[in-house]
Order: sequence, then structure tokens, then C-alpha cells
Amino acid sequence: VTKPPADDKLPLLSRTPSAWAGEALKDPLALLNDHAHLEKKAALNVLELLHRRPEEEDERWTAALTAVARDETAHLHTVAGLLARRDGRLSRGHKNPYAQDLHGLVRRGRGPEELADRLLISALIEARSCERFGVLAETGDDKELARLYRSLRASEFGHHAVFLRLAAGVLPAREVDARWRWMLAREAEIIARQPPGPRMHSGPP
Ligand SMILES: [Fe+2]
Ligand SMILES: [Fe+2]
Repeated sequence: VTKPPADDKLPLLSRTPSAWAGEALKDPLALLNDHAHLEKKAALNVLELLHRRPEEEDERWTAALTAVARDETAHLHTVAGLLARRDGRLSRGHKNPYAQDLHGLVRRGRGPEELADRLLISALIEARSCERFGVLAETGDDKELARLYRSLRASEFGHHAVFLRLAAGVLPAREVDARWRWMLAREAEIIARQPPGPRMHSGPP
């Protein structure tokens, strides 16, 4: 596992205030439920990316993505277990308008551009989740949750790096860099306009 950097080393263009975490932690069961769904969606997303492997990529592509899928499934197991121990229930449905808005940026039907976009969006969601775990771990007095967030933070930081590395193999470096910078700006706008609430990717309180 890659050691996560201090939060100011994350590539994101905006920072989550601790007031956000204070609000989110007022309803830990809702937050854990949302979080469990996000881990499930992260696992599904990475398995779906597995089918999009470019012709010229070797088995390292598969190895990298299946390792992320294994991690996300383990995270789901941990978070769902914690939710159940606290007498919470995993809801049937789940919406994540933040991820939906980000996926709206994908250049669909454009071959390598589409794949690069999907990988960069995956990297963004990992980076933001990493940042939020950091803020959550520093806020509140629930030691068990703080431990959970601290342990996941390192893992999601590693995933963000994996997706960036894979994206760099799909398009020329200059194109990937320009697209990444453009997407970072869109991400900051999208997270800022999310409604508030006990969710991992909610907006400011
Ligand atoms: Fe995860
Ligand atoms: Fe992840």
C-alpha cells in the first residue's frame, strides 16, 4: 500500500472543511450506508474497466485492476460489517449524483479518449474519497470510525495512482495531462454544488 501524502499533496483543487465532516458524522449509519454502496460501485466500475483493456496492453493491466477490485470488495465487506454491527441496514437503492455528474464528462464512443476519461474520473473519485477519509478521521470522537477512515485513506490513495498510471498508457502524455487538469477543475465545481447530507460526496453544510 502506498503511503498517502499529506492532504495538501493531493492533486485536488479544493479542500473539504472539517465542518463538512462534523455534519456528515451526525448520522453515522447513513454515512456508512452511503459508503458501503460507494465501495460496491467502485468494485463494479473497476471490473467493468477490465473489459476495456486496450489491445496493446499486457497482463499488468489485468493484474492492476483485479488488485483494485479485490481491495474494493474487502472495503465493502468491512464497511457493511460495521454497519450491521451497529444495527444499520444496507439500503436497496443508492444514488451518487457526484459520480453521475463526473461520468457525464466522458467522451463516449471515442475509443482511447473515452477510456482515458473513464480512468481519470476513477482517479478523481479515489482522490476525493481519500481526501474525505482524511477529514473524517480528524473530526469527531468515534475512534472506531476514525480507524476505519485512516486505514482506507492509504488504499484509496494507491488506487488513484493506479488509475492515473493506466490513463497515461492510453493517450499521449500531453493529452492526458491537459485532460487531467481540465477534469480537476470540473471536479471542484461538481463537489461544491452537491447537496449537503451524511454522504461521502455531499456538498458543504
Ligand atoms: Fe474503496
Ligand atoms: Fe478505491
